[in-house]
Amino acid sequence: MNSKRVWFKPSYDLAMSALELAELIRRRQPCVVLTGAGVSTESGIPDFRSRTGLWARFDPLEYASLEAFRRDPRKVWSFYKPRIAVLTEAEPNPAHRALAELERLGLVEAIVTQNIDLLHERAGSRNVVEVHGSIRTATCPACGERQPLERVTELLEGADAPACPACGEILKPDVVFFGELLPADAIDRATELARTARLLLVVGSALEVYPVAGLPLETIAAGGELAVVNRGPTALDDRAALRIDGAAGEVLPQVAAALAGY
Ligand code: APR
Repeated sequence: MNSKRVWFKPSYDLAMSALELAELIRRRQPCVVLTGAGVSTESGIPDFRSRTGLWARFDPLEYASLEAFRRDPRKVWSFYKPRIAVLTEAEPNPAHRALAELERLGLVEAIVTQNIDLLHERAGSRNVVEVHGSIRTATCPACGERQPLERVTELLEGADAPACPACGEILKPDVVFFGELLPADAIDRATELARTARLLLVVGSALEVYPVAGLPLETIAAGGELAVVNRGPTALDDRAALRIDGAAGEVLPQVAAALAGY
């Protein structure tokens, strides 16, 4: 399929485009999924760049950059303490569960996620590559001691930032801050997956942040195709063989249902 498709609601179109995406996944294996914050908004977690996103309220360079953390770690934790509470209280939504089902059916090889919320794993996905780290642990920048999320949550009780139990320094969340390198093993694995995918399905990402936003180009350069499920435009819409402008929690369950008998 070479012609570009743009499908919009009403619901008939959405159903038709979900069927078309199901067919594309069935025919173009292996399929790798690349997710962004948009797959978790229906779990109550705000994204970053939509109108109601976090970066409309917080300056990422002040609250989510390595330089800001080194300059004022307590200020960065004033953003991350409530954020960790939201992430740990959130539950996987139908989009996460549909992707786990597609992996169980053998139709999704892996999920490369920019999200740090652990919701793909909690939904049952097994092959998840967290290219921006996660809230699973936090590490002491002074002595290197690593603490699990449960311990970080305890250390945050009655404190504005978690102090390292071993040396007292303020812990850093094991998420990738702006100005920080991505975990080499994760981005290498994600790049390999993108190069060997015959279909890369992007779900809920504006594709604005590199190097992850370059992964779809790796797939296309290697002869694969790109499909997008995203509310609103992405930076690579003009390279997509299929684009569905809709909510991930509505579209993906229809795709999984269409492939259930696969
Ligand atoms: N269904 C589909 N798309 C959605 C939904 C939804 N329910 N909710 C939001 N979206 C779309 C938004 O319209 C937006 O286009 O998802 C996209 C999310 O884009 P961003 O907010 O830029 O999030 P993301 O692409 O994950 O950002 C990448 O930037 O700030 C850094 O580290 C941060 O990992 C993040 C990276």
